Amino acid sequence: MSRLSVNVDHVATVRQARLASEPDPVTAAAIAELAGADGITVHLREDRRHIQDRDLYILRKTIKTRLNLEMAATKEMFDIALEVKPDMVTIVPEKRQELTTEGGLDVKTNPDPLKRYVQGLRDAGISVNLFVDPSPDAVKACHRIGSDGLEIHTGRYAEAFQDNVKEAELKRIYDAAVLSKRLGLKTHAGHGLDYNNVQNVAAMQEFDEFAIGYSIISRSIYTGIENAVREMKRLIVASRSK
Ligand code: PXP
Repeated sequence: MSRLSVNVDHVATVRQARLASEPDPVTAAAIAELAGADGITVHLREDRRHIQDRDLYILRKTIKTRLNLEMAATKEMFDIALEVKPDMVTIVPEKRQELTTEGGLDVKTNPDPLKRYVQGLRDAGISVNLFVDPSPDAVKACHRIGSDGLEIHTGRYAEAFQDNVKEAELKRIYDAAVLSKRLGLKTHAGHGLDYNNVQNVAAMQEFDEFAIGYSIISRSIYTGIENAVREMKRLIVASRSK
């Protein structure tokens, strides 16, 4: 499978810069779907810096594909998820000062509360992924916790400058993806993927889905959302058929 879930947070970032009503991530999501997106991702942050509750509730009613809600494992978010019932929740760590999600979730230190949290969401019929660094221990911990799957953090690969570092990060991603598949987990990838670096990750057949936001929304300023989504989808599909 080579699904692309388009993260529309940064459409909301522009809107919030003026606390105005446009550009609207709901409209962006509809155009992304028309261009071939297989899903829409939004991160409802505790500080509401981009996506607002209103966006989430409207998207739930309007999108035709799958809604993935990225959120921190808090009580507030749990209640919202149970009300909105996204198709999928991706649990991410969240720090107030960060520009974007900086690292994978700590799934090892204190897994029991997380296990109960995941179970509560799954009992409500929501598929749950955990956003983790590409390490075998993290993958095994997701399996023990009982999530449906995981999303492997590709940020360190995406940010690597030197070829040897990039290669090493790709190997970590690959090994984690192979292990994840072997354990029967849904295996997704995301963070920092763009038009120049997605190919190496998309070529790994172990991945079911890619969550990509910043590069697509950035390019859409020049080419429009439709072209930006279409091109990313084309790159993913082409990388997989090599
Ligand atoms: N996956 C997760 C868990 C994220 O937190 C983000 C950023 O919101 C993304 C994917 C998308 O990353 P980017 O915007 O760098 O494509």
